[in-house]
Amino acid sequence: MIYGLARSALFALDPEHAHQVTLGMLRAAPALASAFCAAVPDHPVTLAGITFRNRVGLAAGLDKNAHCLPAWDRFGFGFVEVGTVTPRPQPGNPRPRMFRLPAQQALINRLGFNNLGVDHLIAQVRRHPIKATLGINIGKNADTALERAAEDYVTCLQKVYPHAGYVTVNISSPNTLNLRDLQHGEALAGLLRRLERERARLDQDLGRRVPLFLKIAPDNTAEGFAETATTARTLGVDGLIVSNTTVSRPGLENSAVAAEAGGLSGAPLRPLALSALKAVRTAVGADFPVIGVGGIVRGADARERREAGADLVQIYTGFIFAGPGLVGDCRRALSGRA
Ligand code: FNR
Repeated sequence: MIYGLARSALFALDPEHAHQVTLGMLRAAPALASAFCAAVPDHPVTLAGITFRNRVGLAAGLDKNAHCLPAWDRFGFGFVEVGTVTPRPQPGNPRPRMFRLPAQQALINRLGFNNLGVDHLIAQVRRHPIKATLGINIGKNADTALERAAEDYVTCLQKVYPHAGYVTVNISSPNTLNLRDLQHGEALAGLLRRLERERARLDQDLGRRVPLFLKIAPDNTAEGFAETATTARTLGVDGLIVSNTTVSRPGLENSAVAAEAGGLSGAPLRPLALSALKAVRTAVGADFPVIGVGGIVRGADARERREAGADLVQIYTGFIFAGPGLVGDCRRALSGRA
């Protein structure tokens, strides 16, 4: 009800403007979020050596600069993934670059890693410690050549490592030219070996092993998922996040907005993200951490993802359309009390 009113006002604005207004409010008055926090008991779970207070997380990209950490904590998320952050600040793609499809509960975006840079993000994180597990999602700058991408990821890893509960290596945004090429073959293996070496050094220096998760795209074949997942597991990655947005347009044949370039998220992504998750789970076996994300817009979607092999879930677009109540719905669904 409260969110219904707020949503009507926000949806009257252009999507990116609405996003900025919302983040501005949550940053200035994080206590606003307490009105929405679900009275659901936490069911902590340990995965990749870290304890999450519950299984429902905020997906990357909603709070790229970590401006609203205390608010996410109050909404009741078990973990909060900030970023994608790049070594240097960058403006992202020209506007408009974010589009709503209300009838389909979907978004298309081609933001292109607009963010204020890793140093700014770390300053926020240091100022606002939270109870939820903090994930930091790292990427490369748009003007860094793909052959030098590893340098950007290493720079980010070094800077975020002391502050992160886990670090996500994002090689699956469709909005940074050729980034998804890093998901395969020697490009992937080379990147992961570099990161693994750096992680071992940081672990030794700081005496703390921070898990590395790899976030992958849903646009792949079963063999492609198996290849990426097996390489990741073999080379020391601690878990997979499945998935990012899709460049396909399932079920959007009659929508004019569907022609916009970018990644599709929300309800139409659900079947694709679910089958990607199943393919990954089959490839890595039962005991490897996998986080399910994409098209979770109801508690039942979270349960379906869990039954398909996700240890944890994340939400983004569902949070925009269904509102903060979705956090509690998913938490209840995953604790067996929907
Ligand atoms: C995203 N997503 C995303 N992912 C990521 O790893 N880094 C990022 O910077 C972003 N940015 C971003 C911006 C916008 C506007 C959207 C809608 C999404 C992808 C997001 O984390 C998630 O993987 C997908 O959106 C699928 O989940 P939902 O939205 O269907 O719940």
